[in-house]
Amino acid sequence: MTEVRPLLEVRDMRISIPTQRGVVHAVNGISYQVNRGEVMGIIGESGSGKSVSSYAVMHLMKKNFRVDGGQVLFDGEDILALSDEKMQPYRGGRISMIFQDPLSCLDPVYTIGRQLTETVLAHEKVTKEAAEQRAVNMLKAVGLRDAEQMMNRYSFEISGGMRQRVMIAIALICDPELLIADEPTTALDVTVQDQILRLLRTLVREKHMSMVFITHNFSVAAQICDSVSVMYGGYILEQGPIRQIFSDPVHPYTQAILRAMPRMEAEPGERLMPIEGEPIDPIHMPAGCPFHPRCAHAMEICRQSFPDMTEITEQHRAYCHLLKEGDHE
Ligand SMILES: Nc1ncnc2c1ncn2[C@@H]1O[C@H](COP(=O)(O)OP(=O)(O)O)[C@@H](O)[C@H]1O
Ligand code: SF4
Ligand SMILES: [Mg+2]
Repeated sequence: MTEVRPLLEVRDMRISIPTQRGVVHAVNGISYQVNRGEVMGIIGESGSGKSVSSYAVMHLMKKNFRVDGGQVLFDGEDILALSDEKMQPYRGGRISMIFQDPLSCLDPVYTIGRQLTETVLAHEKVTKEAAEQRAVNMLKAVGLRDAEQMMNRYSFEISGGMRQRVMIAIALICDPELLIADEPTTALDVTVQDQILRLLRTLVREKHMSMVFITHNFSVAAQICDSVSVMYGGYILEQGPIRQIFSDPVHPYTQAILRAMPRMEAEPGERLMPIEGEPIDPIHMPAGCPFHPRCAHAMEICRQSFPDMTEITEQHRAYCHLLKEGDHE
């Protein structure tokens, strides 16, 4: 029997960004696993380190990002340690990414067809005709009915929802094993967002892919994720199966973002309950639990030491001193 190992395993990854104002502590030792066929969500407020941590997996690090430690094991190999050259076959091949804003990724001077076929030709030894046929099939698979005509169009000629479908087609055309989606539906209206989420879920299932799905919206995560990691200030504070975290969140930060979620039965115009306090300053990180300046339950120990991990169930864990004290329900 071969050992079953996760497709992606991030271990204690730390990333900082030196700037003129000081060093930004963007990712402060996060660990997670994504199994084959699984969708793991990364959720957290803006600035919590979701994008920086995911760009690092892809080596899409702007030159100023600094890897301070950790490993990113993809199918058992530490890809964080690879040179950019050795990373090339992974990026866009076995691992692929979609972003919030497709316009910034699609090239306005090339047709959509050309961008799809060139992606295939960059990774596989096939003829141009075979690549074009793959492109048409892929456009159909993402629900673009007039796929042949779409091949000849430019990104600025089509709607936002269609552009996001084209981005998904480009990301999936080389049959990646892992897809990283960074807030792929945030810029879309709710109806189109639902369609794209449904499409992603279907494609991931059909192709038995794994996905890291980044969002700041818990109800979006609930629609698509199997498990979730809740990030704050570059730390993961709670992680586990989405249903458990949704129905029994144990970390005060997770509880706060769930309270801030729009309720299904909310009156039109009813305000969300924002999370109180100032967002964290990643240059001047507080000691102890990063959430303590905003936490209604903060104790002296919270200002001094980062909490150890508490296992709530086998897969559900959280980092909060209250849990050790046994104070939570
Ligand atoms: N290129 C950059 N230069 C300096 N700081 C950055 C850069 N990119 C991100 N950051 C900072 O790193 C932290 C994490 O950012 P990010 O991962 O983009 O957050 P999220 O995706 O969760 O909104 C934030 O404080 C952000 O301001
Ligand atoms: S460790 Fe302390 S400050 Fe942090 S979330 Fe728990 S109770 Fe609040
Ligand atoms: Mg982001």
